[in-house]
Amino acid sequence: MIKRPIHLSHEFLADILDDQSVAVDATMGNGHDTAFLAGLAQKVYAFDVQEQALQKTQERLDQQGLTNVELILDGHEHLDQYVKEPIRAAIFNLGYLPSADKSIITQPLTTLEAIQQILERLEVGGRLSIMIYYGHEGGDVEKDAVLDFVKHLDQKLYTVMLYQPLNQIHTPPFLIMIEKIGEKNESK
Ligand SMILES: C[S@@+](CC[C@H](N)C(=O)[O-])C[C@H]1O[C@@H](n2cnc3c(N)ncnc32)[C@H](O)[C@@H]1O
Repeated sequence: MIKRPIHLSHEFLADILDDQSVAVDATMGNGHDTAFLAGLAQKVYAFDVQEQALQKTQERLDQQGLTNVELILDGHEHLDQYVKEPIRAAIFNLGYLPSADKSIITQPLTTLEAIQQILERLEVGGRLSIMIYYGHEGGDVEKDAVLDFVKHLDQKLYTVMLYQPLNQIHTPPFLIMIEKIGEKNESK
């Protein structure tokens, strides 16, 4: 069966993760992505602004016996304060946490700030998956901001791909995949 964007978002990262690598879950939520990354990477940094997300994620990690994760109760826009190593892989699931307060959503400005910090710190060959959910109020604005930003990334430094259902009703989530292919100073 054809892959759904959410599945491709994991496969895209699994291809390049190994037990030496550092990974980031920029939107921890219930910890599905955090646990997935922790099963493959040496170390995972996971961010969320809601205490509930940290609790749920810790439970999930405990159930799976995963201990290589730092759970951070802070916005992903402050990533630089916590992550000092090169990053091999990172993931965003934009929008709100379904089981929680739906007014707490990712926001265009902070999302873009975090994406920029991750791209700077990404290893060459490293990858970023961004799952865009945009059916909620404010989602459209964030979707457009992210699309506009990634479309303008230097093609000598990043390959940017889009994987999106085209004939589904409503606003099905879609996936942006980014691979870093060069460093800034190498392109000059
Ligand atoms: C769609 S949910 C993530 C789902 C998650 N990947 C999972 O596996 O359950 C989006 C999450 O982003 C969080 N969030 C909102 N603003 C944030 C920010 N500035 N930094 C980090 N997380 C944020 C929300 O609290 C919410 O838990």
